[in-house]
Amino acid sequence: MDFKAEIAAAIAQSLEIDVNEVLGAIEIPPNKDMGDYAYPCFRLAKTLRKAPPLIAAELAEKVQLPSFVKETKVIGAYLNFFTEKSVFAKEIITKVFEEKENYGKSTVGAGKNIVIDYSSPNIAKPFHVGHLRSTVIGNAIYKIHEFLGYNCVGVNHLGDWGTQFGKLITAYKLWGDAEKVEKDGISELMRIYVLFHDEAEKDPSLEDTARSWFVKMQDGDEEALTLWKWFKDISLKEFERVYNTLGVSFDSYAGESFYNDKMAAVVDELKEKELLIESNGAMIVDLEADKMPPCLIIRTDGGTLYATRDITAAIYRKNTYDFEKCIYITAIDQILHFSQWFKVIEKMGYDWNKQLVHVPFGLVSLESGKLSTRKGNVVLMEDLLNEAVKKTAAIIEEKNPDLPNKEEVAKQVGIGAVIFDDLYNGRIKDIVFSWEKMLSFEGETGPYVQYTNARACSVLRKAGDEVTCDIDFSVLTDDVTVEVIKLLASFNEKVQEAADKYEPSVVSRYVVDLTQAFNKFYHDNPILSADEKTRKARLAVVKAVSSVLTSGLALLGVQAPEQM
Ligand code: ARG
Repeated sequence: MDFKAEIAAAIAQSLEIDVNEVLGAIEIPPNKDMGDYAYPCFRLAKTLRKAPPLIAAELAEKVQLPSFVKETKVIGAYLNFFTEKSVFAKEIITKVFEEKENYGKSTVGAGKNIVIDYSSPNIAKPFHVGHLRSTVIGNAIYKIHEFLGYNCVGVNHLGDWGTQFGKLITAYKLWGDAEKVEKDGISELMRIYVLFHDEAEKDPSLEDTARSWFVKMQDGDEEALTLWKWFKDISLKEFERVYNTLGVSFDSYAGESFYNDKMAAVVDELKEKELLIESNGAMIVDLEADKMPPCLIIRTDGGTLYATRDITAAIYRKNTYDFEKCIYITAIDQILHFSQWFKVIEKMGYDWNKQLVHVPFGLVSLESGKLSTRKGNVVLMEDLLNEAVKKTAAIIEEKNPDLPNKEEVAKQVGIGAVIFDDLYNGRIKDIVFSWEKMLSFEGETGPYVQYTNARACSVLRKAGDEVTCDIDFSVLTDDVTVEVIKLLASFNEKVQEAADKYEPSVVSRYVVDLTQAFNKFYHDNPILSADEKTRKARLAVVKAVSSVLTSGLALLGVQAPEQM
């Protein structure tokens, strides 16, 4: 039962207006003395030509109240509704018990495909904390949409094509050592890549060599492609270690190279549609009328670009997945890139340009300044995750050395802390990475939520089979309990809001709110020592909260250990 929807339906019927309009207008009063829902009547004053309080009073007389509404009161221009709390408690708790991990799900997305392009690191470059954001935000957006019934396709659009690989091949042929590359992986590739840049400053002809290697790659030269493939495999091995640790996976690894043989057709199409013009030897799409710099499609040396591959990929994805939306999660500094090529898609006459969504996030910097792979100013993902697990293991060793399965729990909590920290603030906010903050478990953090849930689980374990929803709901009507139940009731709404705004922090904040409300409930209401009727009822609340906390954390990609 959706109380708000039922009240809206009753109001709509009695006023003979559209139910969705009523639903959108209903508010939650600022304090409990004013009831649970309020309908503002001033918006009707104009059409009904009456003072709002009078409209509210007449509505109160007329409306056919659903059974759970105990009382209505006219407060100013509002008609306020007081619900019968035990009916509310029964409705929600029973639903959570029945639906278990499906509670909060919906089917709004049924039959619709959503492509989510996330993480998408560049191969042969270290996987650093800057990539954490795209990875965890994308993973959460994926899970949130899945929860709402969408069919999601997660794509890792690897940066595995472009002139930089010509440079890497050149560097390898000059200074590389196969054994070292096998042994040290990306860090060795990075070393020779940086060396290339240093040397090219002294000897610019190296740039020409690099360009010719990339041209060879584009033309299918065997030696060039074998080396490139090897660099890619080495990089992927390292990336996959990080993905496994984070519990993140993809449905497709079609990266930029995947589009190598598909770009020519798109370039032809751009020509046919008279969008491609020559400019200083390069081919561009002019965007002056749209107040943007031109979108570069082909370089002077014939090479294609990042945008060329994105346009080609979008068309491919539309044809392959017939997406309802294609969502791209990258740092905010790519806004112009996406605005430009989204515009090109529109100019090509594709009306699905509106289904392309760029979801930007704030930049990560270090306390020592901007992240820069070239200058070695990076924090590697693997180091961060290992450190988080190590620190958690030390805390467990100190506080709860007999905990079963402690290595696994240290992973769940340490990694959970890192993910939750990233997802707790609005995504657009810039982040200054700090080891101390990232690994602090105080306050509104992942471990705080996990710990509360573990405590709930421990109460449930002690209670054993006393936990059922066959209880007397009339004992669940005190304010603190009602607050918890209201939060449980709004779970689906919050998930929907997170999806609408592409904002996982709506879920992480919700999870923290529920945790705080539950801790208050737990503090104010004795559970195991209460009389049988009350104990059973409160245990049901504990179980429902634990179930929803677990689901909420799962949407963020955070695990919920039962003991910690
Ligand atoms: N590889 C890019 C980077 O590291 C991100 C790619 C995002 N996805 C896309 N389709 N452009 O900045």
